[in-house]
Amino acid sequence: MTSSIDPRHFRNVLGHFPTGVTVVTGRDTLGQPLGFTIGSFVSVSLDPPLVGFLPGTSSRTWPRIAEHGSFCVNILGAGQDELCWRFAKEPVTGEEGKFAGIDWTVAGSGSPILTGVIGWIDCDIDAVHEVGDHHFVVGRVRDMSHAEEVVDAMVFFRGKVASVEMPAT
Ligand SMILES: Cc1cc2nc3c(=O)[nH]c(=O)nc-3n(C[C@H](O)[C@H](O)[C@H](O)COP(=O)(O)O)c2cc1C
Repeated sequence: MTSSIDPRHFRNVLGHFPTGVTVVTGRDTLGQPLGFTIGSFVSVSLDPPLVGFLPGTSSRTWPRIAEHGSFCVNILGAGQDELCWRFAKEPVTGEEGKFAGIDWTVAGSGSPILTGVIGWIDCDIDAVHEVGDHHFVVGRVRDMSHAEEVVDAMVFFRGKVASVEMPAT
């Protein structure tokens, strides 16, 4: 059935729903680090601990991460705009690629943890469902952590990222 919803209108309306910003990282079969910016990250289940996100079916990064069987969700905080745009736009690999000049450590799954992120969630792939022009990826959490100090958030809204100063408790 053909939809009567114009794709640009769909994007514009959905752009009014603010999301957090993450970089989902992984490794390819040769051990090369991979990553892409993902706003569709969601908490799925507490018991068992599951999280999810939705990569587009045209993503070049996702099939390569999927082959490895695990991924790490890196939660961006205030002021990390450069990481957000770098992992949305830069070439996939190579010296000039997404990881050029940035620091990262290795999670238990082998996936990169980007230095300075405000939280990370290391996962094994539990299930992948095809949903329209996206996949819904469900990950089983194997380890996770967050920054100890009080941090401000990064939010994506109407095509722009903004740092949101959180009130002190
Ligand atoms: C704030 C933000 C959120 C994004 N969220 C998603 C998302 O949830 N799913 C997705 O497929 N692409 C998302 N993208 C776009 C991808 O980051 C981008 O298309 C991807 O890096 C393409 O690279 P790839 O072909 O290497 O996968 C988002 C981009 C930005 C800037």
